[in-house]
Amino acid sequence: MADKATLTIGDQSFDLPILKGTTGPDVMDVRKFYADSDLFTFDPGFTSTASCESKITFIDGDAGILLHRGYPIDQLVEKSSFLEVCYLLLHGELPNAAEFETFDHNITYHTMLHAQFDRFFEGFRRDAHPMAIMTGAVGALSAFYADSINVDDPREREISAHRLIAKMPTIAARAFKYHMGQPFVSPRNNLSYSENFLRMCFAVPAEDWVPNPILTRAMDRIFILHADHEQNASTSTVRLAGSSGAHPFACIAAGIACLWGPSHGGANQEALEMLEEIGTVDKIPEFIEGVKARKYKLMGFGHRVYKNFDPRATAMQKTCHEVLGELGINDPLLEVAMELEKIALSDPYFIERKLYPNIDFYSGITLRAMGFPSKMFTVLFALARTVGWISQWKEMFEDPARKIGRPRQLYTGATQRDYAPIDKR
Ligand code: SDX
Repeated sequence: MADKATLTIGDQSFDLPILKGTTGPDVMDVRKFYADSDLFTFDPGFTSTASCESKITFIDGDAGILLHRGYPIDQLVEKSSFLEVCYLLLHGELPNAAEFETFDHNITYHTMLHAQFDRFFEGFRRDAHPMAIMTGAVGALSAFYADSINVDDPREREISAHRLIAKMPTIAARAFKYHMGQPFVSPRNNLSYSENFLRMCFAVPAEDWVPNPILTRAMDRIFILHADHEQNASTSTVRLAGSSGAHPFACIAAGIACLWGPSHGGANQEALEMLEEIGTVDKIPEFIEGVKARKYKLMGFGHRVYKNFDPRATAMQKTCHEVLGELGINDPLLEVAMELEKIALSDPYFIERKLYPNIDFYSGITLRAMGFPSKMFTVLFALARTVGWISQWKEMFEDPARKIGRPRQLYTGATQRDYAPIDKR
């Protein structure tokens, strides 16, 4: 690849430097293009735009590759733990035993919430969507932990990162318990991250809670699969919010709000509800015709970057089979999902558009089997993605070249005109 591009407009030529990455597409640097040409570049959905430089996650959409700090997702899912992946995303390297012990202790001892914070949940109706509760609760964290919102203090940045990773399971479990009308369950320091979360969700005062190692492992894997994903919509939201100097609690709350959208993190709830609506295998052809007639989308299918399989979907399907097998559940929706996938992958309509199952296609069946209602699915996504958001926020904030994000526009509205009094209109 050349080290510059030359753009000719009329009798003018503009040289644009080509910047090279360690892998994946190189970029054409247009930072000075407007100053030199009086022209903006135009890319509303950012389909051809790199918004930043990053060292955290790499995706090759054509090859179905996902790397976190260079480590393939299938190796991390098989060999690592979510908390170790959190350390890797935040610090760039896998921890040694001493580093992991310290990190595990720091996260464990931040899992409790201020006692007054529990009263915050009571302001919501019991039937509030858990994502509405998450958006509000996380946005309120700065009101309870104002001692770690000075973004210019590296120690406060580290504490707020630890607090967010540690407290998201406690908040998510409280959103679930509040929605279910059951008493809150406090975290316990002798449990692992995922075991602690499952206990806070499913323990009830009436009986002892017994951990299931298969479900704990499945939960941990699901968190790993959702931890980070390059510059997706919610991560870009977090970066843009953080570029103004907003503190991490506010930025993560903005990310949660964006993730809730049905085209993004809300798709896992939509995908399961779609499978429930289809109901049985014999209804699939009629449903597919509706997709082709553009009445609705096939939820859990398609991706802006993956134009081949989503490597997370493969791992998610494997976890789905493990959980259903462990629980002895024969969920007819799994049969519908597998038949739908088989039909879609052989249909020219989907092949031409390079539509493959994404991570959301099988996650809903798995989470429902574990006892979560579909309204909790995006909450679990937000819980896991918090480490990705805060790692990307940290990288953005600590970049010496950091500037406030301020896109421009192609203006096609009214040109200047004079105000007319109402009796002249
Ligand atoms: C996530 O970015 C990330 O990394 C996100 C994520 C993460 O980890 O952060 O991976 C998580 O958000 C996964 C995606 C979850 N969303 C869904 O499952 C919802 C259904 N999928 C679509 O909404 C869609 O596929 C998107 C939004 C995911 C991607 O859309 P694009 O890249 O903007 O593609 P497009 O809309 O330009 O579609 C290209 C064509 C269009 O057809 P034509 O107009 O060219 O005829 O494919 C069609 C679309 O209509 N299409 C679909 C489809 N997705 C795209 N048709 C039917 N069903 C679908 N799911």
